[in-house]
Amino acid sequence: RKPIIPYEEIGPDLLSQLIDVFYGKVAAHPKLKHIFPEDLTETARKQKQFLTQYLGGPNIYSQEHGHPMLRARHMHFPITPDKAQAWLECMALAMDEVKFEGKIRDDLYNRLVLTAHHMTNRPDQEE
Ligand code: HEM
Repeated sequence: RKPIIPYEEIGPDLLSQLIDVFYGKVAAHPKLKHIFPEDLTETARKQKQFLTQYLGGPNIYSQEHGHPMLRARHMHFPITPDKAQAWLECMALAMDEVKFEGKIRDDLYNRLVLTAHHMTNRPDQEE
């Protein structure tokens, strides 16, 4: 049997759309926008690369940037539980907006919940 690769099931177009809509929400979010660069073009480009490989597609993030070490790369940003929640809310809204649905959506979202919690590196009061 052919293994199911989420990246292949989702496809590059929907993934790219999802990430663009997601960063539109991040850029407008009162709890997130100040820790991100004003121009999110490069951030979105890297996130497309990262999620491509996270979902089982080609390892294009690592080819350009090396091992993701995501928690380490996020250390110099104050990621509180509150911000992790805000990040996940932006993602859920973006998923709704691009009509990304079904088990594949739930599977990705549930993985992102774990990854977002793993990124948390400060208590709420220490932002
Ligand atoms: C980069 C915030 C969760 C993947 C960044 C940057 C910020 C940030 C401020 C730097 C943007 C830039 O300078 O371009 C957050 C916050 C999160 C979160 C507040 C809440 C938990 C996640 C999660 C993932 C992720 C869950 C993985 C699915 C990435 C990637 C980059 C990045 C791939 C680019 C790293 C690089 O520079 O190569 N994030 N992030 N982040 N984030 Fe997050």
